[in-house]
Amino acid sequence: MSAFSRRTFLTVATTIGALTFAGMATAQVPALKQKDTYKVGFAQTESNNPWRIAQTESMKAEAARLGYQLVYTDAAGSAAKQVADVNSMIAQGVDVIFLAPREEKPLIPAVMAAKKAGIPVILLDRSVDPKLAKAGQDYLTFIGSDFVQEGQRVAEWLAKNAGGKTKIIELEGTTGSSPANDRKKGFDEAIKAAGGFEIVASQSGDFARDKGRQVAEALLQAHPDADIIYAHNDEMAIGAISAIEAAGKVPGKDILVLSIDGGKEAVGLVAEGKIAAVVECNPRFGPKAFETMARYAKGEKIEPRVINDDKFYDSSNAKAELANAY
Ligand code: AHR
Repeated sequence: MSAFSRRTFLTVATTIGALTFAGMATAQVPALKQKDTYKVGFAQTESNNPWRIAQTESMKAEAARLGYQLVYTDAAGSAAKQVADVNSMIAQGVDVIFLAPREEKPLIPAVMAAKKAGIPVILLDRSVDPKLAKAGQDYLTFIGSDFVQEGQRVAEWLAKNAGGKTKIIELEGTTGSSPANDRKKGFDEAIKAAGGFEIVASQSGDFARDKGRQVAEALLQAHPDADIIYAHNDEMAIGAISAIEAAGKVPGKDILVLSIDGGKEAVGLVAEGKIAAVVECNPRFGPKAFETMARYAKGEKIEPRVINDDKFYDSSNAKAELANAY
């Protein structure tokens, strides 16, 4: 082979290699046929709070309304079980998988396994690590709230209404989950930009009521001057109220409590004055989830993020909104 043809051969071979690699890396989300009925998987994270229960009820009700078969699993708080649940759905030949990934990284193998099996995945409420899997490529789309914005809205309320209180204990959600990461990022950046506040401690309460109570109890002992608790969800905020009362302090007076979710119990506590404000995280996914699936089957281009609208509750509207809260 002459020097020229060897160079040409190498250039062509390198280009083909690069194209093949690029092709593999950008392969599309599996297609979904239009059918009269579907067998659909919903891999839930856990069922330990009213938010999760409301989300599951909404998915089950919409599947039933459409007459679709729903294969439902509950990972009981284990990312490893959730991966196994998705693998079982693949083995059962579902048409689509709705996945609420407990944590950002451990669920990547499940997303990739479904893609390899030709089953489109729609992420519900929580997302996966965007460096490891992409919407429109590895999974169809993410449907849920803007968690960064939720954290920002709590900080914005404090900047206007904290009334001289400045020392914040932050109760984080499940470590490695997208709501914990994003609610922290949105809040911490916005509170820093507001100026005059200090986050004296920030620790995970795993989105759970009793863990939230225990962590709040320990952090209130370590930081007796703390006068604000920002909890990444209602459950931990309700746990924190017990810890505040056990410490002989008055929630809403000595310590402001703020949270995210907007379940009936928390909105009721806003009306009572024990929680200062709550950003809603809407759990009623059913109609939007199945409508997005139908749009995809029809051949529509689906946007990478479908964002839910969230309300905001404080003393100005909590009583009036109580009946509408889940
Ligand atoms: O992913 C949403 C969060 O998960 C909700 O805020 C929380 O309550 C739930 O467990």
